[in-house]
Amino acid sequence: MRQKIVAGNWKMNKNAEETEDLLNELIDKLPEDTQATIIVAPSFVNLASAVQHLEFTNIAVAAQNMHQTDSGAFTGEVSADMLKSVGVNTVILGHSERRSYFGETDALIADKTSTALRNDMTVIFCFGEELEDRKSGNHFNIVENQLKDGLFHISDSDWEKIVLAYEPVWAIGTGETASPDQAQEMHAFIRETVRSKFGSTIAENVSILYGGSVKPDNSKEIFSKADVDGGLIGGAALKASDFAAIVSGI
Ligand code: G3P
Repeated sequence: MRQKIVAGNWKMNKNAEETEDLLNELIDKLPEDTQATIIVAPSFVNLASAVQHLEFTNIAVAAQNMHQTDSGAFTGEVSADMLKSVGVNTVILGHSERRSYFGETDALIADKTSTALRNDMTVIFCFGEELEDRKSGNHFNIVENQLKDGLFHISDSDWEKIVLAYEPVWAIGTGETASPDQAQEMHAFIRETVRSKFGSTIAENVSILYGGSVKPDNSKEIFSKADVDGGLIGGAALKASDFAAIVSGI
């Protein structure tokens, strides 16, 4: 049975005090009886405190990125070992903002994914098309190539540590959410693309999250679709009541 997951990508938001305040609100508001896996991804500087703060809760902590090298002269970067040393075992990789603002290529994301898996971390692997790709009907090709060039080098056994996150770039932060049918259509394509390379067991067991303007008023219908296994939430993750409503609806 595939795991249902709701992950909050906080991006570059919340200082130390604000992080503690939001975590306290989430502990208070999030349902304790959910079957879903709940993940929050604060910024690097708040990861250690978040792990400690959430130690006795059902909320896991993820990093928003990491470097592909184990250690060395890479000023400002953070390694897998550093993340694990503070209790973070999950990392978001390939987010569209890393791709567009920081020039991360499929090859670099593949390298980061290999490093994370080699360090026994779980990877939330992000991908998705731009608006012009969808308008031109090229969105399936774009998504297929992102998967093949960024992820399909991994082994069958690696898939136990992979969560897929389809995030159409045109829906991120825009309020232009993909319709439930659009999400299901692409998620079914993604699962078929995984199946064709890795077989049915891996394809059926991998969780595929949708991200892009998920809000309490649209999450339940999107998450009800057969191949949507949860969401990667941005703006709504920064408001405890909204994030709790999304989790409660999965
Ligand atoms: O990683 C999730 C994020 O990109 C989605 O952002 O604000 O559209 O929910 P948002």
